[in-house]
Amino acid sequence: MPALKLCVLSSEILPYAKTGGLADVAGALVPNLRRLGHEVHAFMPLYSAVHAARSELHPVPGVQQLPLVIGDSEYRFSLQSASFPGTDVAMYFIDCPALYDRPTYYTNDPDEHRRFLAFTRATLESCRRLGLAPHIFHCNDWHTAFLPLYLKTLYASDPLLSRARSVLTIHNIGYQGVMPSAAAADLGLEHPESWLDADDWAHGVINPLKTGIRFADAVTTVSPTYAREICDGPLGMGMQAILRSRKDPVVGILNGVDYKDWDPRHDPYLTSHFSPQDLRGKRKNKELLIAATRLEPAVARPLIGMVTRLAEQKGIDLLFDALPALLQECDFGLLVLGSGDPRYVAFFEGLARRFPARVAFRLGYDEALAHLIEAGSDIFLMPSRYEPCGLNQMYSLRYGTIPIVRNTGGLADSVQHFDARSGQGTGCVFNDYDAPAVRWAIETTLDWFALPNTWQRLMQNAMAQDFSWTRQIVKYDDLYRGMLSA
Ligand code: ADP
Ligand code: GLC
Repeated sequence: MPALKLCVLSSEILPYAKTGGLADVAGALVPNLRRLGHEVHAFMPLYSAVHAARSELHPVPGVQQLPLVIGDSEYRFSLQSASFPGTDVAMYFIDCPALYDRPTYYTNDPDEHRRFLAFTRATLESCRRLGLAPHIFHCNDWHTAFLPLYLKTLYASDPLLSRARSVLTIHNIGYQGVMPSAAAADLGLEHPESWLDADDWAHGVINPLKTGIRFADAVTTVSPTYAREICDGPLGMGMQAILRSRKDPVVGILNGVDYKDWDPRHDPYLTSHFSPQDLRGKRKNKELLIAATRLEPAVARPLIGMVTRLAEQKGIDLLFDALPALLQECDFGLLVLGSGDPRYVAFFEGLARRFPARVAFRLGYDEALAHLIEAGSDIFLMPSRYEPCGLNQMYSLRYGTIPIVRNTGGLADSVQHFDARSGQGTGCVFNDYDAPAVRWAIETTLDWFALPNTWQRLMQNAMAQDFSWTRQIVKYDDLYRGMLSA
């Protein structure tokens, strides 16, 4: 099979910038597509923090200080590049300090939509300058969702780009990048209203994600169950009809795990490694974790871990009633690492104050602690209201840290509820989005933990799961080839 030329665009790509799973996934697509033999080019904005941290970047000749008009402003952008670690893939960064020199990757600034329209336009212009004619542009989330429309308008008769196809992967339909229709001139299209959703236009808004769904040649999302959920019900968050109206249905491809980074046998963040054959290191990690977070040193006590963005999506509301009561009734520890909504921060801080020996909360983003929590906890809690895929439950399985998950999205596709009689299953799965259901799930899992043979079986089942990218990446390969042969 001939190799394809692929351009991957994402607002965050590991190891350069990460706020959540999008970075893990974009950062895994790039080397894994290359491993299949494709010519891969990846594009990301050059945020100032990335610029400061990366000395290996170098300017790309011929793509320097180019004008880019967005609405009534003219920006200048340059292209910088580096080799994507461990590969010969060209990683390109759109350098435009006027837009990306900000304290955070994402902002609430009034020009937020411009920052990502400019990223999309500058990527297309860079391809022209580089003479790069990809078979496929692979866009991710709302930030790059205008690219499919640009291919069909501004670049429709471009000799280099007119034949390129576009894929839009939805990592989270809850974020649509909605902007006021007053910003329509920023799109750079003639008669923009003729391309945009009429209903939105009548309501004075432009919806980038919806535009991407309408014009992309293929739309994917990150698990088969989420693909159904967003087409059929309220989890579509207003996009159900538009998704269902597509000629080709939305394709659900479960994310993979990068076991180079997330495997207790060789996790670079751990000092004590372990495997299904020798679990002694897991206990050592639990001791280290307890010491690091100053919990009461009771290693036999079951320890529940959480690593999460503190957003409504993650189901923290369910814990408001359930956890204080459970902590009074049952003997377990809880360790939470996360940042986000102040309501949830206040909840976990309050819980840690009330149960200081058994509950610890770490506010912030801490990669090393995230790995230690996966390695040293017994149980991992993800009660998500919705979860397009979710990565931590898959990481947990590999570390023998039994996931408690709600039956939604990628959680449903990656964790099988344990049946103590048959000994089959990998975690605890609950259905209803309410406090009694999550209580039931935590109590059930604690009961399993109390039976050493049952728990051993559960851990072995979990650790035997394989969610490697090697298995998943071929599904993208099939999709691209199917699109090009259609
Ligand atoms: P989402 O992208 O919705 O946040 P995912 O489960 O797909 O959820 O991915 C989250 C990723 O971000 C995981 O790799 C997780 O370990 C990481 N992560 C989330 N919060 C933190 C944090 N506070 N510190 C370190 N890593 C975090
Ligand atoms: C989003 C989703 C998460 C998914 C990640 C990567 O952030 O919330 O469920 O795993 O994208 O696809």
